[in-house]
Formats: sequence, C-alpha cells, structure tokens
Amino acid sequence: MRGALIGCGFFAQNQLHAWRDIEGVEIVALCDRDPERLKRSGADFGIDKHYMDAAEMLATEHLDFVDIATTAPTHRLLVEQALRAGAHVICQKPFAETMADARAMVATAQATGLTLMVHENFRWQSPVRRVIELLREGAIGTPFFARVSFRSGYDVYSGQPYLAEGERFIIEDLGIHILDIARALLGDAVRISATTRRVNPRIRGEDVATMLLEHEGGATSVVDCSYASRRARESFPETAIEIDGELGTLKLEPGYRLVIECDGETVEDVAPTLLPWAERPWHNIQESVAIIQRHFIDCLGAGRAPETSAADNLHTLALVEAAYVSAAEKRIVELMEI
Ligand SMILES: NC(=O)c1ccc[n+]([C@@H]2O[C@H](COP(=O)([O-])OP(=O)(O)OC[C@H]3O[C@@H](n4cnc5c(N)ncnc54)[C@H](O)[C@@H]3O)[C@@H](O)[C@H]2O)c1
Repeated sequence: MRGALIGCGFFAQNQLHAWRDIEGVEIVALCDRDPERLKRSGADFGIDKHYMDAAEMLATEHLDFVDIATTAPTHRLLVEQALRAGAHVICQKPFAETMADARAMVATAQATGLTLMVHENFRWQSPVRRVIELLREGAIGTPFFARVSFRSGYDVYSGQPYLAEGERFIIEDLGIHILDIARALLGDAVRISATTRRVNPRIRGEDVATMLLEHEGGATSVVDCSYASRRARESFPETAIEIDGELGTLKLEPGYRLVIECDGETVEDVAPTLLPWAERPWHNIQESVAIIQRHFIDCLGAGRAPETSAADNLHTLALVEAAYVSAAEKRIVELMEI
C-alpha cells in the first residue's frame, strides 16, 4: 500500500517509524509547509518525494492512503482533499475544532465510500487494551462504575508549544483520549457534567478537568485529568483505570500493574513493549501508534470499518464539546444537545 504523510512535526516521527514496521506498506511521499521539517523527516526515513502543498501532492502521487498529522485547524481541508483524491485517510486527534467540521468530514467519507479513521490511540495502548478485552469477555460481569484518570506534572509544553497557547487545552488534547477510553469501557454517554481549572499561570487554557458521565444503560464514570499534579512518582503518560462490575473489580494501576479482583486477586504485569525506536516514558504511546496503524491497514485489507472510525469519533468529540459547555455554563449537558 502506498501512503503519504502530511505534517512532519513532533508526533509524526512516531507515525513514520510505525509505518516502516508494517509489512506491505510504504510511505512514498511527505508534505509539510516547513521545508526544514520536510527535509529532516525525508532524510531520517529515506523518503525523497517532498511537497509543501498537499493539493499538489495529491494530484501527482497515486496513493492508497494519506496519514494526516497536522493540528486540528487544518484537518477538514486536508481530509476532504485526500478523500476527493481517492485515498483512504487516517487523521490525528483532535479530529476537528467543531462538530460541524467533523460531521462534514464523515459525510464526505460516506459519499466517497473510502475509510476515514481517527488516530485516537489511547484506547489502543496495550495495557488499556487488556482491560477492555477482559471487560468485554465478562471477567467482572456487567460494569456499573469506572474511573479513568490521567494526572501528571510532565512538561508537555516544550515538545508541543501550541498546547500552552490555545484557549482550550487539557480536555481537547488529553481528555479526549480518556473520554474515548471511558466510551470503550462503558459505551456511549447520555449526559456529562464537568469542572475545569487553570493551575499553571503560564498557559492560556485549562490544565485540570473533572468530568462525571452517565452512560447508556446507566453506568457512571468519573473521567479526570491534570497536567498540574506534582507527585513523588511521575506516571506520565499512564492512564489509571478502575472498574466495578457486578462480579468484581478491574484496576490498571501506575507501573502497568493490572489487578483483577474476582473470586480472589490476580495481578498481571501489562507493561508495554519497548519498540526498538521508542523511548521511555513515551514508549506506551509509541507502541499504541504502531497498534492503531496496523489496525487501520488490517481494516482496509478486510474491507471493514475501524473501531476508531471517524463516525465513531463523533461521539468522543461530542463529549469534549459537551464538557466545555458544562464547565462554562455550570450545568449538566445532554449529549443530544451537541
Ligand atoms: N495521538 C497522540 O498520542 C498524540 C500525541 C501528540 C500529538 N498528537 C496530535 O498530533 C497532531 C500534530 O501534533 P504535533 O505536536 O506533531 O504538531 P507539530 O506542530 O509539531 O506538527 C505539525 C506539522 O504540520 C505541518 N503543517 C501544518 N499545516 C500544514 C498544511 N496545511 N500542509 C502541510 N503541513 C502542514 C506543520 O508545519 C508542522 O510541521 C495534533 O493534532 C496533536 O494533537 C497526538
């Protein structure tokens, strides 16, 4: 399969490594508005077709798929250009800045019959995946409560300076992933309430958020995130999970320790694989990039919709929007409103 990457920035380097490891896939062209980044990624990965304009690349290259690794404001234009050029698309989160843009992209994909998937990768982290699988196998029976928690003091701003500049920060950037995990665990939500706060005075948006979700079927989840937590043991970028079911409890604890409490206690070490190109502490996320990109290629081969399709991601994005409305208006928001 011939692919091209648009956006050769901070995170795309992981995507390029992961594509190189997937048999039968080749990234044949790169596109970035920044000639330096283009040149560096081309040299690092031995890709010599370079474009500064996506439309020109799409008109010139014969591509099976396009990987879009730019930030959200550019997604709609690039996604629609790629789909109209006849390529399947995998696009980074956050998928869109507005629900209208997200819905328009999903409609374009449906009209073209091509696959559009969102690189919503936290639910593909292998420790998280193990929790999802155990739950789906019925290990603790029907779940009625979950807590999905990401609390860190890690300096994310040095690698991604734009995170300090936006009016919105943690829910849109990180909360989106853990809201998506809550959906993977308990299904879609019907209502949400949220509070937000900015603790770090040097950033513009919120760096702390606490959300309470009611899911279809009545289960409750607490989804909380912080980039302002000073702890003796920094657990970036681990997500802690706790789920109560009718038959027992599942816990994913810091240090990649999975505890299954059901007729006694079983503990599993679910530490992610350190891929040859990965580095700690990012290896958890880097492994999930490899897994989600493999899933995309497998789904294209099998002609089936990916689990994290763009259509599915509308529900995750709606939770993000609803959380911001709830925090701003200090009220419970029905997902139907979004
Ligand atoms: N899934 C994850 O775990 C994860 C982690 C980090 C970042 N991200 C996401 O990845 C995306 C990119 O983040 P980043 O930190 O790598 O950003 P970045 O700013 O480092 O890189 C984006 C690149 O896209 C290029 N670009 C922008 N518009 C373009 C256009 N129209 N045509 C061609 N090139 C264009 C820029 O020049 C830049 O090199 C964001 O949406 C971010 O949320 C995801």
